[in-house]
Amino acid sequence: MKTDHSGKHYAESKEAEEILAWAQSSNPGRWIGHSKFTGLACRLIAEHCPDMDPEKAYTTGLLHDIGRYVGIVRGRHQIEGYRICMERGWDANARVCLTHSQVLKDLAKSLDYWDISEEDFEFFNRYIQGIEFDDYDLLVQLGDCLALPSGFCIIEKRMIDVARRYGINKDSVERWNKIFELKDYFNRKTGSNIYRYLPNIEENTIL
Ligand SMILES: [Fe+2]
Repeated sequence: MKTDHSGKHYAESKEAEEILAWAQSSNPGRWIGHSKFTGLACRLIAEHCPDMDPEKAYTTGLLHDIGRYVGIVRGRHQIEGYRICMERGWDANARVCLTHSQVLKDLAKSLDYWDISEEDFEFFNRYIQGIEFDDYDLLVQLGDCLALPSGFCIIEKRMIDVARRYGINKDSVERWNKIFELKDYFNRKTGSNIYRYLPNIEENTIL
């Protein structure tokens, strides 16, 4: 475990890779490859941000969906991920388990997504309303949209991949626009188009 400058704890690369391998044995699926490429995307982008820690970015991306170890669930994977990371003392990783899908900061905007108890929903909502997203929250929200199980992809491809599997709703365009804003934000922060940092992105896009 490592500690950042503000006293938050996060898993080291090896610890994060080990728990993901364990989670794969518990619930194998596309999400494992997606998690690996999300972690790599976060690290590769963070390497170009002077004020970010690439290892923290990597493990946070790698573990964002770790709650899926419980099986095939929807919003519940976020709460389960938060819990399993907190049990290990990785509060910085736990936080992103909650923040990565809440791009609009409004839990009511995806009601059909919630397969959690009312109590957990209240906790989740209070948590999200009580924080300002930091650069790691934002980076994983973006990284989540740059990673197919087979490799890196442009944002549009991931959006259609998710939409085909889960459908869309009246808030989807607002959510998509937010992701494009995130890409612009990290383009500016790194000084280049972030797609340039992701090897074979075009190759993966034509798969
Ligand atoms: Fe994800």
